[in-house]
Amino acid sequence: MAYKTIVVEIDDHVALIRLNRPDALNALNNTLLTELADAVGEADRNEKVRCIVLTGSEKAFAAGADVKEMSERTFVEAFTRDLFGREATAIEKCRKPVIAAVAGYALGGGCELAMMCDFIIAADTAKFGQPEINLGIVAGLGGTQRLTRAVGKSKAMDMHLTGRFMDAAEAERSGLVSRVVPAKKLMEEALSAAQKIAEKSQIATLAVKEAVDRSFETTLAEGILHERRLFHALFASEDQTEGMAAFLEKREAQFRDR
Ligand code: HXC
Repeated sequence: MAYKTIVVEIDDHVALIRLNRPDALNALNNTLLTELADAVGEADRNEKVRCIVLTGSEKAFAAGADVKEMSERTFVEAFTRDLFGREATAIEKCRKPVIAAVAGYALGGGCELAMMCDFIIAADTAKFGQPEINLGIVAGLGGTQRLTRAVGKSKAMDMHLTGRFMDAAEAERSGLVSRVVPAKKLMEEALSAAQKIAEKSQIATLAVKEAVDRSFETTLAEGILHERRLFHALFASEDQTEGMAAFLEKREAQFRDR
């Protein structure tokens, strides 16, 4: 499908989705978010795709929601049309692993979009921030919730209340990103991580994502019970037999998603 604001490439088992509004630092307008939600949904349904990488440009992952477009919204419009709600839900519902590869600015909705992904690999040029306060609004794509869970209350409050930016080193130190790499190596690192994930049993990768996500939704006891049941269930898969046999026979496992 031809998109106007994103570029999608599927190579081997990895779908690479690149935000592509260079003139506006990939600001998230209605078209981009709709196209992104479509593309993520399509990749999720595409049996060939086993992992998704979401990225932007060298200068910006995304500099936030499109302020020009947003400035014309009224409360009634935003509320009745559930501004960004449908698109966010579509992205959040993706069952396959999604890696955010972030270089440059990831601000406001851009930071929130990165946090919707399963993990973030950052270039050393990355800058994260929730500067909505400077526009007289608050985050609207989960930033108050996900940033707080990622970095704790004190730092989340600091970011949301002052609107300051966090560099890649601070983001790694505080647990917002899983790794930081030199900017030139960002895509190589993210695609290689995606490729590694694509080689695993898909049954197990879906179970991992479901179990970790569950930890944000439930009590410790319920989360552990859910994990244990998934663990038990995976003994019904041929991939478990193969994975363990391969280990014992000192060879690479050949997973078949069964
Ligand atoms: C619309 C944007 C934009 C945005 C940048 N641009 N960010 N357009 N919405 N969020 C446009 C600029 O208007 C400019 O267009 C071009 O991109 C380049 O930006 P500059 O400002 O000239 O670049 P620079 O001086 O390098 O500064 C980069 C920047 C700054 C620090 C990232 O652009 C900035 O502060 N942007 C806004 C960041 C922000 O407030 N984000 C949160 C938005 S609210 P022209 O045409 O002038 O060249 C939000 C709410 C989320 O995200 C709620 C749910 C989605």
